[in-house]
Amino acid sequence: MKKLLTLALGIVRSASAYAQTPTLQEVLGKYFLVGAAVDTNFTQGNDPQAEALCRRQFNSVVAENCMKGEIIHPAVNYFYWRDADKLVDWAEQNGKAVIGHCLVWHSQPPAWMFTYENGDTVSRDDLIGRMYNHIMTVASRYRGRIKGWDVVNEVLNDDGTMRQTPYYTIIGPEYIEMAFRFAHEADPDAELYINDYSLSNPAKREAMCRLVRSLQQKGCRVDAIGMQSHNGFNYPDYTEYEKSIEAFAGLGVKVLITELDINMLPNPNDFSGAEISQKFKFEKALNPYKNGLTKKGQRLFDQRYLDLFKIYERHKDQIGRITFWGLTDRHSWLNDWPVKGRTNYPLLFDRNYAPKPVLNDILKLFE
Ligand code: XIL
Repeated sequence: MKKLLTLALGIVRSASAYAQTPTLQEVLGKYFLVGAAVDTNFTQGNDPQAEALCRRQFNSVVAENCMKGEIIHPAVNYFYWRDADKLVDWAEQNGKAVIGHCLVWHSQPPAWMFTYENGDTVSRDDLIGRMYNHIMTVASRYRGRIKGWDVVNEVLNDDGTMRQTPYYTIIGPEYIEMAFRFAHEADPDAELYINDYSLSNPAKREAMCRLVRSLQQKGCRVDAIGMQSHNGFNYPDYTEYEKSIEAFAGLGVKVLITELDINMLPNPNDFSGAEISQKFKFEKALNPYKNGLTKKGQRLFDQRYLDLFKIYERHKDQIGRITFWGLTDRHSWLNDWPVKGRTNYPLLFDRNYAPKPVLNDILKLFE
C-alpha cells in the first residue's frame, strides 16, 4: 500500500513538474512561430489528447492533408471543405496561426487537373484556367484567416533542374510565377512561400536562390522559403544545411522550417529526401526498434535534435517559423513512409503524448 502511495505521488509530482515546464510556444515563440501538422482525427474532434498537446505547446498549425488538392478539390466543380473549415475554426478559437499547405504540387493534386473527361491531356490555356480556379477558390475562401500559403511545393529536382511536373510540361516554367500571382490576388494579405525538401544539397540550394531571385525580379510577392527538413539520423550534413539557411536569408526572405522530423530508421538504398511516391517493401531488418530505440539510438536522436536547434538558435532572427510534421511519434507519417508498418521515433513527443527529455535541453538553448 505504502509502495503504491509513493508510486502515485511520484506520478503526480512528475505530471505537475511537466505542467510547470515551459512550453515550446512560451520559449521558442518569443522568436518565431512554432507549430505542428495535424490530421483529420484531430480536426474531427477524435483526438482530444492531441488537441490538448497542440493547444499547450504550439502557436500555429498546418493541415497534414486536408488542404491538398486531391482532398479539397476532388472534382472539377466540387470542393470538400469540411476538414479544412474545421481546422481554421479550431485555430481561431484557440488563437493559433494557420498555414495553408499547399496550392500547387505534383503529388496529391486534384485527380482531374491534367486531363479532360475523355482522357486527353488538357491544353495549356485550360490548365492555367484550372490552376487559377483552384487557387482562387481555395485561397479566397480563407482570405484574411491564413497566415501564409505554401504556393508551390517541390518544384525542383535534387540536381537543381526544374521538376518535370505536368504543370511544368504543359504550361512551362512560368507556371510558378502565375501561381504566386493568383495566390496574391486571392488573398492579398497572406504571406506566400515556396517549399521544398533536401535544400541542404548545394545544387538544389543554388537553384532555389536563382528561382526566388527571378520571382523577385518579376515583382512577385515571396515572403519565405520553406525548408521541409525531413531529416534522418545520418542526413543531411548540418554544415550544408546551415549554409542554405544563410543563403536563403541573404535573399531578403524569411526561412521557414516547415515539416521537421528526424527519421530514426534505416533507409533502403541510402535514400533521403521526401518524394512521397518513393516506396519500399517492408522487411524486418528495416524495423529494428519495434519496442523502443536503443540507448545508443536515443543518444543519437537527442544529439541530432540538439545540433539542429543550435543552428536554429544562431539564426533565430532569420527564421519565421518551425513546424513539426506531426504532433507525436504515434501520428508521424514516417511510421508508414517510405516503408509501411514501421515503428518510428521522429518527433519530440512520444506515443503517449509525453515530451521527450531532449525537449528541455532544446528549450534551454533559447531561454
Ligand atoms: C505527407 C503526409 O504526411 C501523409 O499523410 C500523406 O500520405 C503524404 O504526404 N512533403 C510534403 C507533405 O510537403 O505534404 C507530405 O505529407 C510529406 C512530404
